[in-house]
Amino acid sequence: MKITVIGTGYVGLVSGTCLAEMGNDVLCLDLDARKIAILQDGEIPIHEPGLLEMVRRNVAAGRLRFTTSIEDSVAFGQLQFIAVGTPPDEDGSADLQYVLAAARNIGKHMTDYKVVIDKSTVPVGTGDRVKAALADELAKRGLDTPFSVVSNPEFLKEGAAVEDFMRPDRVVIGAEDERGIAMMRELYAPFIRNHDRVIVMDVRSAELTKYAANAMLATRISFMNELANLADVMGADIEQVRVGIGSDPRIGFHFLYPGCGYGGSCFPKDVQALIRTAEENGRQLKVLQSVEDANEAQKHLLLEKIDGRLGKDLAGKHFALWGLAFKPNTDDMRAASSRVVIQGLLERGATVTAYDPVAMNESRRIFGDETRLRYADAPMAALQDADALVIVTEWKEFRVPNFGAIKAALKLPLIFDGRNLYPPQQVRDNGLEYFAIGRR
Ligand SMILES: NC(=O)c1ccc[n+]([C@@H]2O[C@H](COP(=O)([O-])OP(=O)(O)OC[C@H]3O[C@@H](n4cnc5c(N)ncnc54)[C@H](O)[C@@H]3O)[C@@H](O)[C@H]2O)c1
Repeated sequence: MKITVIGTGYVGLVSGTCLAEMGNDVLCLDLDARKIAILQDGEIPIHEPGLLEMVRRNVAAGRLRFTTSIEDSVAFGQLQFIAVGTPPDEDGSADLQYVLAAARNIGKHMTDYKVVIDKSTVPVGTGDRVKAALADELAKRGLDTPFSVVSNPEFLKEGAAVEDFMRPDRVVIGAEDERGIAMMRELYAPFIRNHDRVIVMDVRSAELTKYAANAMLATRISFMNELANLADVMGADIEQVRVGIGSDPRIGFHFLYPGCGYGGSCFPKDVQALIRTAEENGRQLKVLQSVEDANEAQKHLLLEKIDGRLGKDLAGKHFALWGLAFKPNTDDMRAASSRVVIQGLLERGATVTAYDPVAMNESRRIFGDETRLRYADAPMAALQDADALVIVTEWKEFRVPNFGAIKAALKLPLIFDGRNLYPPQQVRDNGLEYFAIGRR
């Protein structure tokens, strides 16, 4: 099939590449000329395991191309995926300007039937607005060329995005016309060969499904974070509680890890957007508002623990910080807890040396010429001259450190661990003071 992907970010680039991998012809559009130039040079602008090799293979096979030309992109695909960003507006609602601009661009240039597929995460009712924008642009040109509008929310996880796209748990298709549904089934059939995992529903339900999924996952995290904080004051161990409840099949083990708050490009903005959607429609999502409030507070928890141990004036103190990305296996730092922790340490007068396997360039971009934040090229190198170690992302390479060497390197033997990476007793047996989340 001939496919255009509009927006070549985390979702667009992965989707376009995986669709090409199955033998489709794919053209990826982005208006960011820098990203397209990187891709045309045979590199990729993001870190995502397995993606670079797959991009190169499909480019070499002639199935995957990149462009900044809107005209070419509209002419190319009968299927037009919209995978542009939907960042939070000032009031937390999803900013739809990029989605609607993409839809209008299709309407301005299309000359034959198109299936316009919304893959961006968008509030309920966006499908109707996309349809109206397309119809409006066609009417301006005196045309009534047929098109289908489909909602196909994306559930991939950054860090495992290629694997998730190639082997999806489910493919949600929101559509109301048979032609669009048939083309979507044909497109996804090779990805779900051993049993049908396509769930067809109406467009509004599909749009809400995506928010409901992220809201549920965020709720589990905030719930566990609050329980961990309670465990901390009650002398219970949240890790034992986690195992105790996760073994109930109605609860399960996934997404029960407490920590220093969730971040990333999805949960924070999607939780906020769903709260706003409800408010705009006269409803209050009280549970979700609390999830959001609890997470904001949790992002400050490591700072509170540091305040509690060292006081609020950290002038002259130097911290090593392991992990900048919002989670492992990505360089994405959007809404990452590390940003709150670094900002808080700098405000208290401290200096920081950070290490992350892939996100240091992204951090340099975000923190610019902040001289009190430096970077190290290895985890242990970050500890040089440091008073204490703060851990914010659970990268595998932090899991089995040499505690003796950490003790020897730190001036005060303190570890503030926002991801509960270590058995507390083991750390303490090595002469270190250990502050984790809800651990005894
Ligand atoms: N990142 C994830 O893990 C993830 C997972 C599932 C769903 N989503 C959703 O997918 C959407 C995209 O997310 P992302 O993380 O890939 O965003 P991103 O910011 O990485 O990429 C979006 C891209 O769209 C481009 N763009 C904007 N307007 C355009 C236009 N009119 N024409 C062409 N290109 C345009 C931007 O330049 C940018 O490169 C969002 O709605 C997000 O919520 C993201």
